[in-house]
Amino acid sequence: MKKITIAIDGFSSTGKSTLAKQLAQKLQYVYVDSGAMYRAVALYTLQQNLIQDTILDTESLIKHLPSIKVTFQYNESLKASEIYLNGENVNTEIRSMEVSNAVSRVATVPEVRQQLVALQQQMGVHKGIVMDGRDIGTVVFPDAELKLFMKASAHTRAQRRYDELIGSGTDVTFKAVLENITSRDHLDSTREDSPLFKAADAIEIDNSNLSLDEQFDKVLALVQSKL
Ligand code: CDP
Repeated sequence: MKKITIAIDGFSSTGKSTLAKQLAQKLQYVYVDSGAMYRAVALYTLQQNLIQDTILDTESLIKHLPSIKVTFQYNESLKASEIYLNGENVNTEIRSMEVSNAVSRVATVPEVRQQLVALQQQMGVHKGIVMDGRDIGTVVFPDAELKLFMKASAHTRAQRRYDELIGSGTDVTFKAVLENITSRDHLDSTREDSPLFKAADAIEIDNSNLSLDEQFDKVLALVQSKL
């Protein structure tokens, strides 16, 4: 059976990872959350006090890069991969608001991107992969057979992320979530290295008014047309 590469890009909280997981499960493909890798580096940066109020000590972070090891390990009972930072499972920690507020600044550093993009490309050498992020169809896998670009209104996205955070017991306000999303959208799409934009050959999916099932059916038909 032919295997393809599926690249899913888009703004924060557009449901990229939900769709990517559904696709990977259906097709028996590997799913990689590239954002989790940037979040792990951001967590390291916070742990080492290399960032304070979004002021990043870029030079020190670059010096530390050789000692930052980001890996994934499959968790049999969760039926999902979990992310590790230097051997420690940080799957939950990387979702904190603190990390969310630091990550897009860390993701502007070209040396960080080079290190993570190399890892991402390695994971995709055999195809049969679904990866979501901001630069997957443009930089990581420019030759991906299927590229999707996900959109939804900022309010819809903030509501989704707020519900998720509250559901997981995080004490957060809707305003803080909306602010984080809009500021990350801005940083992600205006940075110099690998900014977020829709690849010319990506298919745009606005899911503000689509149910998960409707979206999945639509995308599955696209996948089938490529196989
Ligand atoms: O919160 P959400 O799930 O939408 O974001 P994420 O996928 O966890 O990514 C967190 C942040 O990492 C993004 O806001 C970007 O700044 C950065 N990122 C990136 O620069 N390139 C990627 N391929 C993936 C994420």
